[in-house]
Amino acid sequence: MTTAAPVNEWWRTAVFYQIYPRSFADANGDGMGDLPGITSRLEHLKDLGIDALWLSPFYRSPQRDAGYDVEDYCDVDPLFGTLADADALIAGAHRLGMRIIVDIVPNHTSDQHRWFKEAIAAEPGSPARARYIFRDGRGANGELPPNNWESVFGGPAWTREVRPDGTPGQWFLHLFDATQPDLDWSNETVKADFDDVLRFWLERGVDGFRVDVAHGLVKEEGLPDFVPSESGGSMGGDEDAPTPYFGQEGVHDVWRRWRHVVEEYGPERILAAEAWINPLTRMAKWVRHDEMHQAFNFAFLSAPWDAAELRDVITDSLAAFGGVGAPSTWVLSNHDVVRHATRLALTFENPQGHGIGPLSPGMPIPDLGLARARAATLLMLALPGSAYLYQGEELGLPEHVFIPDDARQDPTWFRTGGERYGRDGCRVPIPWEKDAPAYGFNSTGKTWLPQPDDWAGFARDVQVASADSTLALYKQALAHRAEYGLGGGELVWIDGAEGVVAFDNGRVRVVANVSGADAAIEGHVIAASGPLTAEGRVPANTTVWLHRPAHH
Ligand code: GLC
Repeated sequence: MTTAAPVNEWWRTAVFYQIYPRSFADANGDGMGDLPGITSRLEHLKDLGIDALWLSPFYRSPQRDAGYDVEDYCDVDPLFGTLADADALIAGAHRLGMRIIVDIVPNHTSDQHRWFKEAIAAEPGSPARARYIFRDGRGANGELPPNNWESVFGGPAWTREVRPDGTPGQWFLHLFDATQPDLDWSNETVKADFDDVLRFWLERGVDGFRVDVAHGLVKEEGLPDFVPSESGGSMGGDEDAPTPYFGQEGVHDVWRRWRHVVEEYGPERILAAEAWINPLTRMAKWVRHDEMHQAFNFAFLSAPWDAAELRDVITDSLAAFGGVGAPSTWVLSNHDVVRHATRLALTFENPQGHGIGPLSPGMPIPDLGLARARAATLLMLALPGSAYLYQGEELGLPEHVFIPDDARQDPTWFRTGGERYGRDGCRVPIPWEKDAPAYGFNSTGKTWLPQPDDWAGFARDVQVASADSTLALYKQALAHRAEYGLGGGELVWIDGAEGVVAFDNGRVRVVANVSGADAAIEGHVIAASGPLTAEGRVPANTTVWLHRPAHH
């Protein structure tokens, strides 16, 4: 039998639902989602059966990177509402028995943050500049950037300031957009200021934080050039060895410090790391007992639709996270990657963050993508540990591929001169009602990104009414996951045929036919991601949950 985690370790088995506030629900009709919109629709999430919410940033921000460029960590951007609206949302979630964690962005601020404005106004070598990473340029006149680092969004990671008299000055580091200057985490003032930010939100009652770019923050002493590894690697920090800016040892001291801060508020407040770090054994360092509580499993998200690879990544995840006493997490979609209902049917490589658009090669086949997405989700929700869902995946939403060039917003698109489409396609406002303006996202029909013309069938009101909708599948899976204690269970592999992933978790047997011949099953079917064959076998791209046969 499986056991439920103690209440103060709720996060070990929790299913989180990621809300991207810009695109969830828009109460004031300006085309941008907002906090009152979320609060007014919380019951739908309760009804879905999730345990906790994670909110992407809603802080005061010029929105150059959709709010991941923060101007004031302790205020709500007027686009999204007010602090009172945030309080109402937190209280509303708690009233319905859902926890709520919020995004925090410590690697960089907006260039409109008071700290950066002070830094730019101050002289080189001043304490105000020491909050950030300003350096003199190389070359006879400082005309070359201090090193060769590149921005994750494309182009150089350094921008040269222009002094008030129009002359060029020092360079400042930004691993992301030029409007997102990196903070210097060797500076005690920076550390102390963030302790205060954490406490500000903990006081307001949030249950924890999703920590943005938790593999960044600390840079190698001396800021040496990046030397690509033999394998080529990428600037995204997914190398086996640390780069001079991602995965530095010193970052773990920050998480130990933060763990102390959240524990001041009791044992139930948590930290979840966004750390794009390979391999899993390295990522597990982020969730050692005195650091964060969990880290997103990007190895699982990145796994191709292949039985052997899925088996390997699941085994490695349970071993790596289990090895440090942490639960594994599981995730298939978020606001930075191509939605899994599209991604799992792509026929070409699509590195994280690059995105797809009208001119991408080998367009995915929608029905195949949806079948695989449903099968992958049903597989994921049977795994022990904690799972993260991204808004809209419960509707089976695909990526919006055909966003016109002039409607794109992601800085990646601009910084690569259109070479990478970026992430807009997974960020489109979600559909609620088939026959309403903006599919019920608001009542005016305005949306900050265009919605596709063919999303009526994905609308929540259509799916609520249909027993075999993707929404119904998610609800059913989440209910059974809770009923059978799958999140707190133990995975035991059973031999599956070629192309099949099969395991037991407590009383439930899971058979995911990824790409094999129709698979025979024995036992009562509890949930199925798609139709079985006339003979009751499981076809490829289909997962079933069964009551384990009695003789086992
Ligand atoms: C994280 C966020 C992403 C953002 C970046 C810079 O990767 O998930 O959306 O652009 O950090 O803050």
